[in-house]
Amino acid sequence: MLGPVLLVASRSDAMRKLVAGAPVTRPVVDRFVAGETLADALTAVRSLTGDGIEVTLDHLGEDITSAAEARATRDAYLRLLEALAREGLGTRAEVSVKLSAFGQALPTGGDDLAYEGARRVAEAARAAGTTVTLDMEDHTTVDSTLGILARLREEYPETGAVLQSYLFRTEDDARALATEGSRVRLVKGAYREPATVAHQDRAEVDRAYVRCLKILMAGRGYPMIGSHDPRLIRIAQELAARHGRKPGDYEFQMLYGIRADEQRRLTGQGHRVRAYIPYGADWYGYFMRRLAERPANLTFFLRSFLPS
Ligand code: FDA
Repeated sequence: MLGPVLLVASRSDAMRKLVAGAPVTRPVVDRFVAGETLADALTAVRSLTGDGIEVTLDHLGEDITSAAEARATRDAYLRLLEALAREGLGTRAEVSVKLSAFGQALPTGGDDLAYEGARRVAEAARAAGTTVTLDMEDHTTVDSTLGILARLREEYPETGAVLQSYLFRTEDDARALATEGSRVRLVKGAYREPATVAHQDRAEVDRAYVRCLKILMAGRGYPMIGSHDPRLIRIAQELAARHGRKPGDYEFQMLYGIRADEQRRLTGQGHRVRAYIPYGADWYGYFMRRLAERPANLTFFLRSFLPS
């Protein structure tokens, strides 16, 4: 019940001010977000890659309202990629991009602006020896994001996509993307979606995840299993073995701060594991989606408001 309420709150400016302004919020946010600065992000990258875990970095920000903000997002990614190249981290660190932070939703020319910004980032990523993955946001953006992906892949075929198993359309999208050189992160989906477009029942979402995973594992692309769910991780390992895929022909991805022990355990078993590291000042939407996924996180957060 709480999940949907928190997802509504994740879009509320009033809640944003209340939560972000509360002094007790910070330590809880720190569990899920690597910090506000590039230096904070690089510290987390060094620590995780030192443990053999690869990373993908998300400069936090979404739903921007001007072309100037879109350019600021692009520039933050260019600075990040410069730093990764300087430190020789390009083989172990890639970047994840939310196109809404690149201007996708702006009423005029949003798609082109987002494409141009992402294209510059893909160019810089290649120069740094790494890749870009386009995160997937709410269902109204999927066609636009897949359209921009197709344009980017003409020049940068290594650009990755995210598919969300809760959407009814995703099996078809998985079939279309299970092709040579195509990198696809499969996730359950983190937004509040209507019953007209998405499964509402968690078991249905899980079953759809397995169907999509079967398509991706049987295909010719590179599946990225974006989940902390032990059952789905086990099924992914079984499907990979069935299709003769070895570690490195697919990878596991998990979020920074979530099931860190499992990230290390899989790495220790020889699997390729990548942690998704968010950083930046605009952490509110990301943080609220993490609370919505797990009521225990909310309890932990609310407890921090009580006097100790
Ligand atoms: P599920 O929610 O069933 O969790 C399984 C177990 O994992 C839980 O029992 C718990 O132990 C642990 N867990 C999960 N979430 C937790 C949390 N917040 N706090 C603590 N423990 C938690 N979504 C999207 O719509 N677009 C995107 O682009 C992405 N990108 C993305 C990248 C990566 C690398 C990951 C791992 C996930 C995403 N997601 C995403 C989020 C995804 O859609 C989904 O909301 C979360 O991964 C939670 O789903 P699980 O598959 O982990 O299963």
